[in-house]
Amino acid sequence: MMDRRFMRESARNFKPYYSPTSDGSLRLDTNTNVLGPNPAAMDALSDLSDAEINQYPNTYSADLRKVLAEFYGLDPNNFVTGSGSDEILDVLFKTFTDKGDRAVMPFPSYSIYDYFSELNGGVPVLIDLDEEFQLDVDSMLAAEGKIIIIPSPNNPTGNAFRRSDLVKIVEGTDVPVVIDEAYGEFHHESFIPLVRKYENLIVTRTFSKAYAMAGLRIGYCVCSPEIADMMTCIRIPYSLNMVSEKAAIAALRDQDFIRSSVDMVEKNMPMLVEGLEALGFKCYPSNANFVLARSPIDHKELVKGLKDRGIMIRDFGHRRLLENCVRFTIGTDEMNIRVIEACEELTR
Ligand SMILES: Cc1ncc(COP(=O)(O)O)c(C=O)c1O
Repeated sequence: MMDRRFMRESARNFKPYYSPTSDGSLRLDTNTNVLGPNPAAMDALSDLSDAEINQYPNTYSADLRKVLAEFYGLDPNNFVTGSGSDEILDVLFKTFTDKGDRAVMPFPSYSIYDYFSELNGGVPVLIDLDEEFQLDVDSMLAAEGKIIIIPSPNNPTGNAFRRSDLVKIVEGTDVPVVIDEAYGEFHHESFIPLVRKYENLIVTRTFSKAYAMAGLRIGYCVCSPEIADMMTCIRIPYSLNMVSEKAAIAALRDQDFIRSSVDMVEKNMPMLVEGLEALGFKCYPSNANFVLARSPIDHKELVKGLKDRGIMIRDFGHRRLLENCVRFTIGTDEMNIRVIEACEELTR
Protein backbone atom coordinates (compact mmCIF):
# COMPACT_ATOMS: atom_id res chain seq x y z
CA MET A 1 0.00 0.00 0.00
CA MET A 2 1.28 3.47 -0.90
CA ASP A 3 1.68 5.56 2.24
CA ARG A 4 4.08 8.02 3.80
CA ARG A 5 6.66 5.33 4.60
CA PHE A 6 7.83 5.87 1.02
CA MET A 7 8.10 9.62 1.39
CA ARG A 8 11.41 11.36 2.15
CA GLU A 9 11.78 11.21 5.89
CA SER A 10 12.25 14.95 6.46
CA ALA A 11 8.79 15.70 5.04
CA ARG A 12 6.66 12.86 6.42
CA ASN A 13 4.77 15.03 8.90
CA PHE A 14 4.14 17.85 6.45
CA LYS A 15 0.75 19.18 5.45
CA PRO A 16 0.07 21.14 2.23
CA TYR A 17 0.42 24.94 2.57
CA TYR A 18 -2.45 27.44 3.10
CA SER A 19 -4.75 27.04 0.10
CA PRO A 20 -8.22 28.45 0.73
CA THR A 21 -11.00 28.72 -1.82
CA SER A 22 -11.78 32.37 -2.38
CA ASP A 23 -14.97 32.13 -4.50
CA GLY A 24 -15.07 35.87 -5.19
CA SER A 25 -14.36 37.03 -1.62
CA LEU A 26 -12.44 40.18 -0.85
CA ARG A 27 -8.88 38.88 -0.32
CA LEU A 28 -7.39 40.57 2.73
CA ASP A 29 -5.61 37.39 3.80
CA THR A 30 -2.36 37.39 1.77
CA ASN A 31 -1.08 41.00 1.92
CA THR A 32 -1.27 41.51 -1.82
CA ASN A 33 -1.88 44.92 -3.41
CA VAL A 34 -5.56 45.88 -3.14
CA LEU A 35 -5.29 48.47 -5.95
CA GLY A 36 -5.39 45.65 -8.50
CA PRO A 37 -2.84 44.27 -10.98
CA ASN A 38 0.29 46.28 -11.74
CA PRO A 39 -0.61 48.46 -14.79
CA ALA A 40 2.86 48.44 -16.39
CA ALA A 41 3.01 44.66 -16.05
CA MET A 42 -0.46 44.33 -17.60
CA ASP A 43 0.68 46.47 -20.57
CA ALA A 44 3.73 44.28 -21.02
CA LEU A 45 1.53 41.17 -20.89
CA SER A 46 -0.87 42.57 -23.48
CA ASP A 47 1.98 42.70 -26.00
CA LEU A 48 3.78 39.39 -26.04
CA SER A 49 4.29 39.40 -29.81
CA ASP A 50 8.07 39.21 -29.40
CA ALA A 51 7.96 36.49 -26.73
CA GLU A 52 9.63 33.43 -28.23
CA ILE A 53 7.86 30.97 -25.99
CA ASN A 54 9.11 28.13 -28.15
CA GLN A 55 12.52 28.87 -26.61
CA TYR A 56 13.67 28.62 -23.01
CA PRO A 57 13.97 31.83 -21.02
CA ASN A 58 17.44 33.10 -20.28
CA THR A 59 18.80 30.55 -17.79
CA TYR A 60 19.49 33.04 -14.99
CA SER A 61 17.23 36.01 -15.92
CA ALA A 62 20.06 38.15 -17.33
CA ASP A 63 17.70 40.89 -18.54
CA LEU A 64 15.90 41.34 -15.24
CA ARG A 65 19.15 41.22 -13.28
CA LYS A 66 20.57 43.97 -15.50
CA VAL A 67 17.56 46.23 -14.86
CA LEU A 68 17.66 45.46 -11.12
CA ALA A 69 21.36 46.38 -11.08
CA GLU A 70 20.59 49.74 -12.72
CA PHE A 71 17.71 50.33 -10.33
CA TYR A 72 19.80 49.75 -7.20
CA GLY A 73 23.17 50.99 -8.52
CA LEU A 74 24.72 47.52 -8.11
CA ASP A 75 26.04 44.84 -10.46
CA PRO A 76 23.94 42.07 -12.11
CA ASN A 77 26.15 39.60 -10.23
CA ASN A 78 24.64 40.87 -6.98
CA PHE A 79 21.24 39.34 -7.89
CA VAL A 80 19.61 35.92 -8.03
CA THR A 81 16.03 35.64 -9.29
CA GLY A 82 13.43 32.99 -8.63
CA SER A 83 9.83 31.94 -8.98
CA GLY A 84 8.65 34.07 -6.07
CA SER A 85 10.88 34.91 -3.13
CA ASP A 86 9.70 31.60 -1.67
CA GLU A 87 11.88 29.84 -4.23
CA ILE A 88 14.81 32.05 -3.22
CA LEU A 89 14.25 31.05 0.42
CA ASP A 90 14.23 27.37 -0.49
CA VAL A 91 17.44 27.84 -2.52
CA LEU A 92 19.04 29.55 0.49
CA PHE A 93 18.40 26.54 2.75
CA LYS A 94 19.56 24.18 0.00
CA THR A 95 22.73 26.22 -0.52
CA PHE A 96 23.74 26.71 3.10
CA THR A 97 22.35 23.83 5.16
CA ASP A 98 23.02 20.10 5.20
CA LYS A 99 21.17 17.36 7.09
CA GLY A 100 20.96 18.25 10.77
CA ASP A 101 22.15 21.86 10.37
CA ARG A 102 20.48 24.49 12.50
CA ALA A 103 18.65 27.43 10.90
CA VAL A 104 17.89 30.29 13.29
CA MET A 105 14.77 32.40 12.90
CA PRO A 106 12.52 34.52 15.11
CA PHE A 107 9.14 33.34 16.39
CA PRO A 108 6.45 34.28 15.52
CA SER A 109 7.41 34.94 11.93
CA TYR A 110 6.89 33.63 8.40
CA SER A 111 6.13 29.92 8.73
CA ILE A 112 7.70 28.90 5.45
CA TYR A 113 11.20 29.26 6.91
CA ASP A 114 10.89 26.34 9.33
CA TYR A 115 9.05 24.36 6.64
CA PHE A 116 11.90 24.80 4.11
CA SER A 117 14.57 24.27 6.74
CA GLU A 118 13.03 20.93 7.77
CA LEU A 119 12.19 19.90 4.24
CA ASN A 120 15.87 20.26 3.39
CA GLY A 121 16.81 18.06 6.35
CA GLY A 122 17.76 20.90 8.69
CA VAL A 123 16.70 21.80 12.21
CA PRO A 124 14.81 25.08 12.62
CA VAL A 125 15.67 26.93 15.84
CA LEU A 126 12.91 29.38 16.69
CA ILE A 127 13.85 32.24 19.03
CA ASP A 128 10.91 34.01 20.67
CA LEU A 129 10.43 37.72 20.07
CA ASP A 130 10.03 39.89 23.19
CA GLU A 131 6.70 41.38 24.28
CA GLU A 132 7.14 44.28 21.82
CA PHE A 133 7.79 41.73 19.06
CA GLN A 134 11.46 42.78 18.87
CA LEU A 135 14.44 40.45 18.40
CA ASP A 136 16.38 38.65 21.12
CA VAL A 137 19.72 39.41 19.47
CA ASP A 138 21.95 37.55 21.94
CA SER A 139 19.92 34.34 21.75
CA MET A 140 19.82 34.47 17.96
CA LEU A 141 23.60 34.74 17.81
CA ALA A 142 24.15 32.13 20.52
CA ALA A 143 21.95 29.57 18.72
CA GLU A 144 24.80 28.53 16.39
CA GLY A 145 22.86 28.40 13.14
CA LYS A 146 24.38 27.64 9.78
CA ILE A 147 22.05 30.37 8.54
CA ILE A 148 19.99 33.10 10.22
CA ILE A 149 16.81 34.32 8.61
CA ILE A 150 14.75 37.34 9.67
CA PRO A 151 11.87 39.10 7.91
CA SER A 152 11.76 42.86 8.42
CA PRO A 153 9.02 44.08 8.45
CA ASN A 154 8.03 40.86 10.15
CA ASN A 155 5.07 38.74 9.06
CA PRO A 156 2.61 38.30 10.78
CA THR A 157 3.41 40.88 13.49
CA GLY A 158 3.87 43.73 10.98
CA ASN A 159 6.67 45.61 12.76
CA ALA A 160 10.15 46.20 11.39
CA PHE A 161 12.99 45.19 13.68
CA ARG A 162 15.36 47.77 15.12
CA ARG A 163 18.02 48.53 12.53
CA SER A 164 20.75 48.45 15.20
CA ASP A 165 19.67 44.91 16.22
CA LEU A 166 19.83 43.68 12.64
CA VAL A 167 23.28 45.23 12.19
CA LYS A 168 24.45 43.54 15.43
CA ILE A 169 23.32 40.17 14.06
CA VAL A 170 24.94 40.64 10.65
CA GLU A 171 28.18 41.82 12.27
CA GLY A 172 28.06 39.22 15.05
CA THR A 173 28.44 36.15 12.83
CA ASP A 174 30.20 34.85 9.71
CA VAL A 175 27.27 32.69 8.59
CA PRO A 176 24.81 33.96 5.98
CA VAL A 177 22.18 36.31 7.43
CA VAL A 178 19.03 36.67 5.34
CA ILE A 179 16.85 39.74 5.78
CA ASP A 180 13.55 39.07 4.06
CA GLU A 181 12.21 42.41 2.81
CA ALA A 182 9.02 41.11 1.20
CA TYR A 183 7.35 44.23 2.66
CA GLY A 184 10.42 46.45 2.20
CA GLU A 185 8.72 49.00 -0.06
CA PHE A 186 6.41 49.94 2.82
CA HIS A 187 9.24 50.58 5.28
CA HIS A 188 11.79 52.86 3.54
CA GLU A 189 14.80 51.49 5.46
CA SER A 190 16.26 48.80 3.27
CA PHE A 191 19.38 46.77 3.98
CA ILE A 192 20.05 46.37 0.23
CA PRO A 193 22.82 49.04 0.07
CA LEU A 194 24.65 47.17 2.85
CA VAL A 195 25.32 44.09 0.70
CA ARG A 196 28.41 46.00 -0.48
CA LYS A 197 29.66 46.22 3.09
CA TYR A 198 28.72 42.79 4.48
CA GLU A 199 29.66 39.67 2.49
CA ASN A 200 27.36 37.48 4.61
CA LEU A 201 24.22 39.63 4.11
CA ILE A 202 21.45 38.51 1.76
CA VAL A 203 18.31 40.61 1.25
CA THR A 204 15.28 39.00 -0.38
CA ARG A 205 12.55 40.93 -2.19
CA THR A 206 9.37 40.11 -4.08
CA PHE A 207 7.09 41.44 -6.82
CA SER A 208 4.11 39.89 -5.00
CA LYS A 209 3.23 42.65 -2.52
CA ALA A 210 3.69 46.38 -3.36
CA TYR A 211 4.31 45.50 -7.03
CA ALA A 212 0.91 43.78 -7.30
CA MET A 213 2.16 40.78 -9.30
CA ALA A 214 1.76 37.80 -6.94
CA GLY A 215 0.19 35.71 -9.71
CA LEU A 216 3.34 35.95 -11.84
CA ARG A 217 5.63 34.54 -9.10
CA ILE A 218 8.74 36.74 -9.21
CA GLY A 219 11.27 37.19 -6.42
CA TYR A 220 14.96 37.92 -6.11
CA CYS A 221 17.75 38.36 -3.64
CA VAL A 222 20.56 40.88 -3.40
CA CYS A 223 23.89 39.69 -2.03
CA SER A 224 27.63 39.49 -2.62
CA PRO A 225 28.70 37.99 -5.97
CA GLU A 226 30.24 35.07 -4.05
CA ILE A 227 26.90 34.14 -2.47
CA ALA A 228 25.04 34.72 -5.75
CA ASP A 229 27.42 32.32 -7.49
CA MET A 230 26.80 29.60 -4.88
CA MET A 231 23.03 30.01 -5.07
CA THR A 232 23.07 30.01 -8.87
CA CYS A 233 24.55 26.49 -8.83
CA ILE A 234 21.61 25.28 -6.71
CA ARG A 235 18.71 27.19 -8.22
CA ILE A 236 16.67 25.37 -10.88
CA PRO A 237 17.78 26.61 -14.31
CA TYR A 238 15.03 28.59 -16.12
CA SER A 239 12.96 28.83 -12.94
CA LEU A 240 11.76 32.36 -13.71
CA ASN A 241 9.67 32.19 -16.88
CA MET A 242 10.20 34.73 -19.70
CA VAL A 243 6.69 36.22 -19.52
CA SER A 244 7.08 37.07 -15.82
CA GLU A 245 10.58 38.40 -16.43
CA LYS A 246 9.30 40.79 -19.08
CA ALA A 247 6.48 41.99 -16.82
CA ALA A 248 8.91 42.52 -13.92
CA ILE A 249 11.18 44.70 -16.06
CA ALA A 250 8.24 46.87 -17.11
CA ALA A 251 7.00 47.15 -13.51
CA LEU A 252 10.39 48.24 -12.17
CA ARG A 253 10.36 51.12 -14.65
CA ASP A 254 7.01 52.42 -13.36
CA GLN A 255 7.72 53.57 -9.82
CA ASP A 256 4.66 55.88 -9.74
CA PHE A 257 2.37 52.91 -9.16
CA ILE A 258 4.57 51.65 -6.32
CA ARG A 259 4.61 55.09 -4.68
CA SER A 260 0.83 55.42 -4.90
CA SER A 261 0.39 51.92 -3.46
CA VAL A 262 2.64 52.73 -0.51
CA ASP A 263 0.92 56.11 0.03
CA MET A 264 -2.49 54.43 -0.01
CA VAL A 265 -1.42 52.04 2.77
CA GLU A 266 0.08 54.84 4.88
CA LYS A 267 -3.06 56.92 4.50
CA ASN A 268 -5.56 54.11 5.16
CA MET A 269 -3.91 52.16 7.94
CA PRO A 270 -4.89 54.63 10.74
CA MET A 271 -8.57 54.47 9.73
CA LEU A 272 -8.67 50.67 9.85
CA VAL A 273 -6.77 50.58 13.14
CA GLU A 274 -9.01 53.19 14.79
CA GLY A 275 -12.14 51.40 13.56
CA LEU A 276 -10.96 48.06 14.91
CA GLU A 277 -9.78 49.48 18.23
CA ALA A 278 -13.15 51.16 18.75
CA LEU A 279 -14.65 47.64 18.58
CA GLY A 280 -12.28 46.28 21.23
CA PHE A 281 -9.48 44.87 19.02
CA LYS A 282 -5.89 45.44 20.10
CA CYS A 283 -3.86 46.39 17.00
CA TYR A 284 -0.07 46.06 16.93
CA PRO A 285 2.17 48.71 15.30
CA SER A 286 2.89 47.91 11.65
CA ASN A 287 5.47 49.01 9.07
CA ALA A 288 3.92 46.83 6.37
CA ASN A 289 0.67 46.72 4.35
CA PHE A 290 -1.18 44.70 6.98
CA VAL A 291 -2.02 44.84 10.64
CA LEU A 292 -2.07 42.15 13.30
CA ALA A 293 -4.96 42.49 15.73
CA ARG A 294 -6.06 40.62 18.84
CA SER A 295 -9.76 39.92 18.48
CA PRO A 296 -12.25 40.69 21.25
CA ILE A 297 -14.24 37.58 20.22
CA ASP A 298 -13.04 34.06 19.43
CA HIS A 299 -10.69 34.21 16.40
CA LYS A 300 -12.31 31.28 14.60
CA GLU A 301 -15.75 32.82 14.96
CA LEU A 302 -14.47 36.16 13.65
CA VAL A 303 -12.66 34.68 10.62
CA LYS A 304 -15.65 32.49 9.74
CA GLY A 305 -18.11 35.35 10.24
CA LEU A 306 -16.10 37.56 7.91
CA LYS A 307 -15.79 34.76 5.33
CA ASP A 308 -19.57 34.33 5.43
CA ARG A 309 -19.77 38.05 4.63
CA GLY A 310 -17.37 37.68 1.69
CA ILE A 311 -14.18 38.92 3.39
CA MET A 312 -11.07 36.80 3.90
CA ILE A 313 -8.51 37.59 6.59
CA ARG A 314 -5.80 35.32 8.02
CA ASP A 315 -6.18 33.49 11.30
CA PHE A 316 -3.15 33.19 13.61
CA GLY A 317 -5.17 32.78 16.79
CA HIS A 318 -4.04 29.20 17.43
CA ARG A 319 -0.32 30.07 17.53
CA ARG A 320 1.69 30.56 20.68
CA LEU A 321 2.23 34.29 21.51
CA LEU A 322 -0.52 35.18 19.03
CA GLU A 323 -3.52 33.83 20.94
CA ASN A 324 -6.73 35.08 19.34
CA CYS A 325 -4.83 37.19 16.78
CA VAL A 326 -5.84 37.72 13.17
CA ARG A 327 -4.17 39.61 10.32
CA PHE A 328 -5.88 42.14 8.02
CA THR A 329 -4.36 43.42 4.77
CA ILE A 330 -4.93 47.20 4.66
CA GLY A 331 -7.67 47.91 2.11
CA THR A 332 -8.91 50.92 0.21
CA ASP A 333 -11.30 53.25 2.09
CA GLU A 334 -14.31 51.31 0.84
CA MET A 335 -12.82 47.95 1.75
CA ASN A 336 -11.87 49.12 5.23
CA ILE A 337 -15.36 50.47 5.86
CA ARG A 338 -16.80 47.12 4.75
CA VAL A 339 -14.41 45.29 7.10
CA ILE A 340 -15.23 47.50 10.07
CA GLU A 341 -18.98 47.22 9.49
CA ALA A 342 -18.75 43.43 9.27
CA CYS A 343 -16.59 43.29 12.44
CA GLU A 344 -19.12 45.50 14.19
CA GLU A 345 -21.92 43.04 13.40
CA LEU A 346 -19.82 40.16 14.70
CA THR A 347 -18.58 41.78 17.90
CA ARG A 348 -21.85 43.45 18.91
C1 LIG B 1 7.76 37.60 4.89
C2 LIG B 1 7.44 36.98 3.56
N1 LIG B 1 8.45 36.55 2.80
C3 LIG B 1 8.22 36.00 1.60
C4 LIG B 1 6.94 35.84 1.12
C5 LIG B 1 6.76 35.11 -0.19
O1 LIG B 1 6.52 35.92 -1.24
P1 LIG B 1 6.56 35.40 -2.74
O2 LIG B 1 5.20 35.61 -3.27
O3 LIG B 1 7.60 36.27 -3.40
O4 LIG B 1 6.97 33.96 -2.78
C6 LIG B 1 5.86 36.27 1.88
C7 LIG B 1 4.47 36.06 1.41
O5 LIG B 1 3.52 36.18 2.11
C8 LIG B 1 6.12 36.86 3.13
O6 LIG B 1 5.12 37.27 3.92
